[in-house]
Amino acid sequence: MEELVALCKRRGFIFQSSEIYGGLQGVYDYGPLGVELKNNIKSSWWTSMVYEHDNIEGLDASILSNPLVLRYSGHEDTFSDPMVDCKKCKSRFRSDTVANKCPKCGSSDLTEPRPFNLMFKTSLGPIEDENSFAYLRPETAQQIFINFKNVVDSTSKSLPFGIAQIGKAFRNEITPRNFIFRVREFEQMELEYFVKPGEDDDSLNSWVQKRLEWWKEQGVPTDSIELYEVPIDELAHYSKRTVDIMYKFPHGLEELEGIANRTDFDLGSHSKKQEELNINSEVKSNNDSNSKLAAQDEDSNWFVPFVIEPSAGVERGFLAILNEAYTHEDIGDGKTRIVLKLKPHLSPVKAAVIPLKKNNQEIVDLSIKTKNKLQALGFGRVMLENTGNIGKGYRRHDEIGTPICITIDFESLENNTVTVRDRDSMNQKRIKIIDLENYFTSQLK
Ligand code: GLY
Repeated sequence: MEELVALCKRRGFIFQSSEIYGGLQGVYDYGPLGVELKNNIKSSWWTSMVYEHDNIEGLDASILSNPLVLRYSGHEDTFSDPMVDCKKCKSRFRSDTVANKCPKCGSSDLTEPRPFNLMFKTSLGPIEDENSFAYLRPETAQQIFINFKNVVDSTSKSLPFGIAQIGKAFRNEITPRNFIFRVREFEQMELEYFVKPGEDDDSLNSWVQKRLEWWKEQGVPTDSIELYEVPIDELAHYSKRTVDIMYKFPHGLEELEGIANRTDFDLGSHSKKQEELNINSEVKSNNDSNSKLAAQDEDSNWFVPFVIEPSAGVERGFLAILNEAYTHEDIGDGKTRIVLKLKPHLSPVKAAVIPLKKNNQEIVDLSIKTKNKLQALGFGRVMLENTGNIGKGYRRHDEIGTPICITIDFESLENNTVTVRDRDSMNQKRIKIIDLENYFTSQLK
C-alpha cells in the first residue's frame, strides 16, 4: 500500500485533499493522471452496462436529496453505526472497536453506545432551520428509485430493465482508512435492475457472473477475488440476499462490489397507494409520494418489481486495478523498473510521442504532427513528451502505464519511420509512419 500511495503522489494520480492546510480526513483529490484513470474506469462500466444492454438506461440525478427520500428509504432510521464517547478525552469510537476502554487515553469512563447517523446534512436556502435541510445522498440508488416512473414513461421500458448511474455519494465514516478504500466522499457505479418477482434469484446469480467477468476485463482476475454470502444478520435493512465480491486489497480481503436483492422494498417504500400493490416487504406507510412506482402484469394487475443491485465503488475499483497493475520488474544487470501493466483502455495516457532531440525543430514538428494524428483517433490522451531524455521518458511512461512509446529521430526525417516501444515486453521495432495509425488502433482496441 505504501508503494501505491507513493506512486500516486509522485506521478499525480491522487493527492490528499486540502493538503496545504493539513488535509481533510477521508477525502482525496484526483490529479492529472488520476482523473484519466477514474474516467476510464467509469466509461468502461457505462459502456458495459448502458451501451451493451438495450434494456438499460442511464441517469444522472442530484446529490442533494429531499429528506423524505431518505426517510422512506429507511436511511434516517437505520443508516447508523453505534458509537461510544470517552467522557475523559472526548474521543468518539465505533462501539465494536472499543473493549471497555478508550483506545486513545485508556479511560474506562465511556458512554453507552448511541446510534450515529452516517448521512451528511446541509442547509438549503439562506435560513438555517430544522425544516430547510437536505441530505447529501449516501447512495446513488435512491435517486434511481424515485425516478422510476419518469424513466419508464419516457423510454417505454418493460421488465426486465435497468437504470444505471455513476455519481458521488457521501458517508460520515467515523474512521476513514486504508487510503482511498474507506472515504467520506466517493463515487458509486450502481445499476438497479428491475425484474418480475420470482425472477430475482436467477437475476442476482447472473449479475454476479457478469460482474466477475467485467472485473477480469479491467485486470482484476477472478483468483484475486472471493465471493462472500453476506449472513442474514449482517444484511442491509433493504436486502433479502447480498453477495459481496471481495478483493485481496493490500490491507486485506474486503468488499469491492456488492450485489444485493433489494426486493420490492425501495419502490414499495416510495410509492403512493401502497395498499393496492400487494407489497412483499415491510415498508413505512407513505402519504407523501405522488407517484405509483409499479408495473402491470398480463392481466393488468399492478405489482411492484423486485430489484437486483450491482453496486461498485469507483475508488475501490481504482485501488484494486492499480494494485493488480503495479509491477516491480527485474530487467537484468541488477536493474529494476516499476511498470503499471494497466489494460490499455484504462491507461491514463494511450501513447507518448518522444522527440529524440528537444531542440531540433524538424523532429519536434514531426512529433507534434504525429501526436495530433493519433489524438484525433479518439482513444484518449496522447502526450508529447518533449524532455529530450528518452530513457527518462520510458521510465515515466512505464510507471504511469502508457502502453506505447513512439520515438521520432533523425532517421524518421529521412525515411518516414518511427520506433515503437511496447510497455510490457519493452520490445522496440521500427515501423512506417503510414502504418502507425493501424498499429496504434490494434494495440488500443
Ligand atoms: N446502494 C448500495 C450501497 O450504497 O451500499
